[in-house]
Amino acid sequence: MGVEPPVTTADLFRSLPDSPDILPLGPGAAVLPGFVRAADIAECLAALSGVLRQAPLRHMVTPGGHRMTVAMSNCGTWGWTSDLQGYRYSRTDPVSGSPWPPIPPLLAGIAERAANRLGYDSFRPDACLINRYRPGAKLSLHQDRDEHSLDQPIVSLSLGLPARFRFGGADRRARLRQTVLESGDVVVWGGASRLAYHGVLPLEDGLHPLTGACRLNLSFRRT
Ligand code: SIN
Ligand code: FE2
Repeated sequence: MGVEPPVTTADLFRSLPDSPDILPLGPGAAVLPGFVRAADIAECLAALSGVLRQAPLRHMVTPGGHRMTVAMSNCGTWGWTSDLQGYRYSRTDPVSGSPWPPIPPLLAGIAERAANRLGYDSFRPDACLINRYRPGAKLSLHQDRDEHSLDQPIVSLSLGLPARFRFGGADRRARLRQTVLESGDVVVWGGASRLAYHGVLPLEDGLHPLTGACRLNLSFRRT
């Protein structure tokens, strides 16, 4: 029985193409297609609906005064919010004044295993942003940079309708790769790609058997 040497972040890009279940996006960044199997997705959605009963989805406003087309909520110790004052992490939901619901252990476990798959072996998310896209909703190109722990990756789980995801580099002018994210796909980006620009093109019409006319994305972070 062979013992595999430990994978370091620096090794990631070189070793990624060897594995058919990893699609590289950049150094330290990849898609794990079908990481959550169809049979487990209903359970993820059930866990999520418990969260959303306590902290309902809402359309936040950007600091520039634009209503976001994606509806958002959070679970975890910290939740990401946007309003006219700026972007920040807060311990409480500004709508209810209560703490955000905890990250369901099922979902935290998926995020940790996905990070692990790419060699990020100590990822423990303390924040999870929940995005809901209805047809036409989009997320402009941006960096996730409101966290202190830039040594920790972002782990993003897609559920429901497919989306066209764009992923570039830390320089906004870097070439963008475009990939379709299906239900159950996980994207992980960290290391040299931690501050990569990314975004989602307007969601196309469709009906998913479990989510109906929407896509849900969970992005797990360490603040
Ligand atoms: C995000 O950048 O917060 C979400 C990305 C996605 O919806 O796939
Ligand atoms: Fe993001």
